[in-house]
Amino acid sequence: MMLSFFHLLPLLLSLAGAHRHPFPATFNVVSYGALPNRITDNTKAFIRAWNDACDREGGGRVLIPRGTFMLDSVMFVGPCNGPVEFVIRGSLEASSDPSRFFSDHWITFKYIDQLTVEGGGYLLGHGGAAWHYNDCATNPRCRPLPATMRFDFVTNSKISHIQSINSKNTHFNLFACENLNISNVRIIAPADSPNTDGIHIGGSSRINIQDTIISTGDDCVSILSGSRDITVTGVHCGPGHGFSIGSLGRSNNEENVTGIVIQNSTLFGTQNGLRIKTWAPSSASLASDILFDDIVMLDVNNPIFIDQQYCPRPPCNGQAQSNVQIRNVTFRKVRGTSSSKFAVKIQCSKHVPCKGINLVNINLAYRGREGQVASSCLNVEGKSYGPQLPSGCL
Ligand SMILES: *[C@@H]1O[C@H](CO)[C@@H](O)[C@H](O)[C@H]1NC(C)=O
Ligand SMILES: *[C@@H]1O[C@H](CO)[C@@H](O)[C@H](O)[C@H]1NC(C)=O
Ligand SMILES: *[C@@H]1O[C@H](CO)[C@@H](O)[C@H](O)[C@H]1NC(C)=O
Ligand SMILES: *[C@@H]1O[C@H](CO)[C@@H](O)[C@H](O)[C@H]1NC(C)=O
Repeated sequence: MMLSFFHLLPLLLSLAGAHRHPFPATFNVVSYGALPNRITDNTKAFIRAWNDACDREGGGRVLIPRGTFMLDSVMFVGPCNGPVEFVIRGSLEASSDPSRFFSDHWITFKYIDQLTVEGGGYLLGHGGAAWHYNDCATNPRCRPLPATMRFDFVTNSKISHIQSINSKNTHFNLFACENLNISNVRIIAPADSPNTDGIHIGGSSRINIQDTIISTGDDCVSILSGSRDITVTGVHCGPGHGFSIGSLGRSNNEENVTGIVIQNSTLFGTQNGLRIKTWAPSSASLASDILFDDIVMLDVNNPIFIDQQYCPRPPCNGQAQSNVQIRNVTFRKVRGTSSSKFAVKIQCSKHVPCKGINLVNINLAYRGREGQVASSCLNVEGKSYGPQLPSGCL
């Protein structure tokens, strides 16, 4: 056989880059039999492509080309023999068949180091047909629905340029991840879709979320037990329930939450803005070193809200107190409009009053029928600096 320069090119490139940028071999799901016909379940083809990319010495790239690929629940498991890129150029479509709804995940990545998920494609969750199962108040057959993408024990990784539409439950769920960056992601679900958190983080550290748009029916970002060093920058939230730390303290042996920064972000028409919520009664833990900085809000219902009596549905015990200590929390340069009179509500626990709460340059206007914008503080030790609207809390 004649060997031309072009035959040798891939080899030359891989030799040239071998020690610094290994040339990733591409594993196209279509070569494994995946069919973009919106009918065939493609899990087997996807798993075979994943296994080959993951097993390849030096790493590999799974490619999902243009087209819409039906996919049942699927788990991509490591550890792998090198970095793996999961490139979604087309769309992945979840089942809209109710008999296939009930799993705790749709697409899961687990035990992987150096994973990249990108490609500009779409995750179509088809939540519309499923959301009523989320509502236990009206549906006795309510069941937990799957998150769109779960990342469990994923480290040194990034997710970018992906769009998640109408998830059945949380869009992106991170558990036990470390050093994982999310950027240029778009998350879209209706304002009234239940439990469709944008990004839900638990037990994870060094997570950065940047330049991302989240419009959904529940929290845009929720940060739970055991999360450390989480930064949210340049995120637009709305509609949705805002940026939330918690709820904390519901189960026993919860871990502390510390080192949270939410900055340079906007909230439009959300139910809450910047919120820390803990159950009462609750187990003991600590939420500390939290900074909310440079936040613009438009028509947000509870702009600044620490709620240590979190109880979304009865029965609620108004006498019970939370044991989650909230300490060293700064709200700085928070400005815009509130859609309720109480733009600042800091309601802490009688057992463990909040300590070191700082309000710096707050300017939140209210122009509704309830009267002047106001603040309310309970069991708080803290200070305010610079102009304050509303004033009078600390
Ligand atoms: C994530 O972003 C941080 C800050 O920009 C950077 O230091 C870190 O290397 C990034 N991690 C990955 C896995 O890209
Ligand atoms: C704030 O976020 C926007 C994107 O939402 C970005 O364009 C801008 O550069 C960010 N500014 C700073 C100071 O980080
Ligand atoms: C959580 O915070 C409490 C109070 O500061 C501290 O005593 C405890 O050691 C912390 N737990 C962990 C696992 O760091
Ligand atoms: C308070 O938290 C900030 C981060 O938001 C941190 O830099 C600072 O050291 C903390 N202060 C104390 C006294 O722990």
